[in-house]
Amino acid sequence: MTARLGKNPYRPGVGTRPLYLAGRDQEIRRFQAVLRSSPEIPANVRLTGLRGVGKTVLLSEFEAQAEEANWATGRLELEPRHDTEATLTSALVSLCERATQRISKIERAKAAVGRVARGAVKTLSVTLQDVTLSCDPLVGSHGRDLAKALFDVVETAVKKGSEGFVLLLDEAQILRDEAARAGEHPLSLLVAAVSAFQRASLPIALVMCGLPTLTGNLLKARTYTERMFRGEEIGSLDGESARKAFVEPLKNTPISADRDLVESVLACVEGYPYFIQLWGAELWDAAEAATVDRFTPELLAGIEPDIYRRVDSDFYEPRVRTLTPAEQDVLSAAAMCPYPPLLVSHLNRASDKTSGNVNVLLGRLVEAGVLFRLRKGQYEYTAPKFHEFLLRRTSERDARLGGVP
Ligand SMILES: Nc1ncnc2c1ncn2[C@@H]1O[C@H](COP(=O)(O)OP(=O)(O)OP(=O)(O)O)[C@@H](O)[C@H]1O
Ligand SMILES: [Mg+2]
Repeated sequence: MTARLGKNPYRPGVGTRPLYLAGRDQEIRRFQAVLRSSPEIPANVRLTGLRGVGKTVLLSEFEAQAEEANWATGRLELEPRHDTEATLTSALVSLCERATQRISKIERAKAAVGRVARGAVKTLSVTLQDVTLSCDPLVGSHGRDLAKALFDVVETAVKKGSEGFVLLLDEAQILRDEAARAGEHPLSLLVAAVSAFQRASLPIALVMCGLPTLTGNLLKARTYTERMFRGEEIGSLDGESARKAFVEPLKNTPISADRDLVESVLACVEGYPYFIQLWGAELWDAAEAATVDRFTPELLAGIEPDIYRRVDSDFYEPRVRTLTPAEQDVLSAAAMCPYPPLLVSHLNRASDKTSGNVNVLLGRLVEAGVLFRLRKGQYEYTAPKFHEFLLRRTSERDARLGGVP
């Protein structure tokens, strides 16, 4: 059966490109400028924000922009297992090797149809040895492997007529250097390699994207890194952009949205892109089911409980499901505290655990990506409106327990 209204134009999801990308023009323009200024000015961008604000979507847009500007690209979503020098190196080496092969193939195809201008072919003025000798962390075997893979991909890209190579890493907050000298320093390894190449004027760019903890991790890295990056902290969309994100996908569809309805949705979603897409998608399906062609406040009122159920099950629950009972207890106590931010002093009063225990559990919640440390004794949730979710969860649980005779 074909839907009466056609395809749902909203895209709630993980890294799913929205039909209308709202409010990110400035970030995109600044990224284009960063690439244009390379290699004289190192082209490194740090893109941070809470869960669901659109980091992955913007990272994909950066990738598309880089390709448009004739840069070769390689993108990887880091996973927790990549937090050692060995595993990070191995993931990046295979990424670079795949990119090198791809670049060779694409450029061969372009050459076959006569699209590579003869003059465009360039060579690098430095060798891999020049670069690795100048940088300590690149001397070990992981450093050498990483440097070689990066050098090969940059060299191939340049030889084939590209401006250079952009490495884009998502979920980069999982990279953290250990404090001990003998510990793991994956972040320093990566940053040292890229900056050594950049000092030698090789056209390589690094975009690191992740939760706000990435900023602190970079500050604490063994290799001093903070000045190397242009910081882009993205958040909820401003009023006008949020409105466009909600309304624009309805253009050229049979649906129109009442002004009051738009205002109610904007008040609920507080400019958060994931929520805009989810509210829109649910309204669309409700309009289809009710065979109406207008989004009205009444339509919204009828599905609001379903929307919150879906937000909880699709967006919040997956973040808490894997936590231990003790970690979940801390979150239940946190629901009782004022927010934002979450103060450890409040939490200690609300929790029946010792303060030492609370501290350890907070550390684990940071590692699990649920919280991040704002400053000493203060935390914030990584997902927007998470506090409200915890309140809903606690009151549901209390209602269930209250119902037991
Ligand atoms: N600028 C935007 N305008 C409209 N919708 C957007 C925008 N950016 C992202 N979205 C939508 O928001 C949702 C979340 O986007 P995305 O997965 O990129 O977020 P994220 O910050 O990477 O989240 P996470 O931290 O969980 O990985 C997607 O459904 C996407 O379509
Ligand atoms: Mg993401």
